[in-house]
Amino acid sequence: MKKTRRSFLASTALPALAAAASGETARGAARSRLIEEENANPGTTDWQLTRVRLNKGKYRTSLIEGYVSHQSIHAGETLEFFVSTEPARRFTIDLYRLGYYGGKGGRHMTRLGPFAGTIQATPEMQPDNRLRECEWEASTSLAIPEDWPSGIYLGKLTTVPESESEPYWQSYTIFVIRDDREADVIFQTSDNTSQAYNRWPENESLYTDPRGAQAPGVSVSFDRPYGLYPQIYENPLSIGSGEFLLWEFPLAYWLEKEGYDVTYLANVDMLEPGSIERAKVFLSVAHDEYWDIRQFERMKSAIAGGLNVLWLCGNSVFIDSPFTPSKSGRPNRVITRRGCFGELRQDETESYASIFDTLESTAPDEREIMGVRSVVPFNGGGDWTCRNAAHWVFEGTGMTDGDSIPGLVGWEHHGEPDPDREGLEILAEGRVWAGGTREGKYTAVIFPGPRGNFVFNASTVFWNMGLASPPGHWLPWSHFSRPHGPDERVQRITKNLLDRAIKGMA
Ligand SMILES: [Fe+2]
Repeated sequence: MKKTRRSFLASTALPALAAAASGETARGAARSRLIEEENANPGTTDWQLTRVRLNKGKYRTSLIEGYVSHQSIHAGETLEFFVSTEPARRFTIDLYRLGYYGGKGGRHMTRLGPFAGTIQATPEMQPDNRLRECEWEASTSLAIPEDWPSGIYLGKLTTVPESESEPYWQSYTIFVIRDDREADVIFQTSDNTSQAYNRWPENESLYTDPRGAQAPGVSVSFDRPYGLYPQIYENPLSIGSGEFLLWEFPLAYWLEKEGYDVTYLANVDMLEPGSIERAKVFLSVAHDEYWDIRQFERMKSAIAGGLNVLWLCGNSVFIDSPFTPSKSGRPNRVITRRGCFGELRQDETESYASIFDTLESTAPDEREIMGVRSVVPFNGGGDWTCRNAAHWVFEGTGMTDGDSIPGLVGWEHHGEPDPDREGLEILAEGRVWAGGTREGKYTAVIFPGPRGNFVFNASTVFWNMGLASPPGHWLPWSHFSRPHGPDERVQRITKNLLDRAIKGMA
């Protein structure tokens, strides 16, 4: 549906009129103070979950769980909520926009319900691709109000107890509200990767095929709740929100605190022409591992067209994972592992053998757009060590060559810089320790685009841990290593990069 309307707008001879008719111009106009003004609204910390109980087997909470009809949606369009409660209980949906909001981290937008909850069926696993796709009845729907700005939104689901002696239970749904305005910064949530690792209901992520952790042809659907995030550490209070609250929220919170003019997208939005080219700088966030090859092509042409890109992430653009429709025909609701970007990684050690045995190279070298790539070992923990202190990126940080930001590298990274990339400079480089003791190497780089633009790659999933620590945020500990949290040097480097991209100067 969205596609049809968008292509109509793109092709019309009178785009302003068509946009006005659909209400898009008012919302879509460039308003550089939009985020600043939005954050002046009263905040609350009540977007956080309070009471979560996991089922035995731990990946789901069937007391209350749900999903929504879109990864991302425009204001004016209708979002459906699909919720199951077992036992059947009434429930409410509190909607929050996440941001800074004076340090509270969220704004309460509205409460929906209470609704009568029902037990909705757990789908069978499809034998050919292990897909678990729900076809639940919609519990309610919401036409997204025109004045809700682009952002990451949580739908907090809460059961209504039947008696005073019964407690309430909670989980999240999550979605993006997007717009089409010419903002300074695009924040793309890495929701393909959230879904790839989602084991709901029992153990059905893209990593749990008996043939091997990287088996091809395995599929996951967005038509199911997000279960407990199963990597690095256990954080039940993020259930239903994928990876966003763990690795991505500190960046969104910090950007909005600093008043950056930011707009948000889901991975799927990159399929649409013009979706990313309208910004001055694009952010790939944290753990952006799963890409459709059309995302790669869009990024490649956007960099050629002058877009600045900050890869504030690790292990990104690693798995070639095409989007396909759901059984009901809704586009781009299933992703499937086809193979990997770039040449095959070789590794002789036993611990990685099952991973690389089943992986085939099916897509271009990700260094074309990132400058570096996923290497072996691709995980571990390390310190982020400056190797080019005279570069403008480090201005005002006080860092000298050899200075390290402890624990900032983890739990996945990039390395092996593109030898053919003209103008590529190494900014940081050092060792990681996979499993605590096996040595690996990461490299952070910057390289010029053809139109005065640049591409930076921080080469660590944990970069955003150095920016902010929003309410409820837990720092990770992985591979026997940890980042320390907010660090003035990480903040200054990020500011230098954003300011250069937005204003053309550091
Ligand atoms: Fe990964």
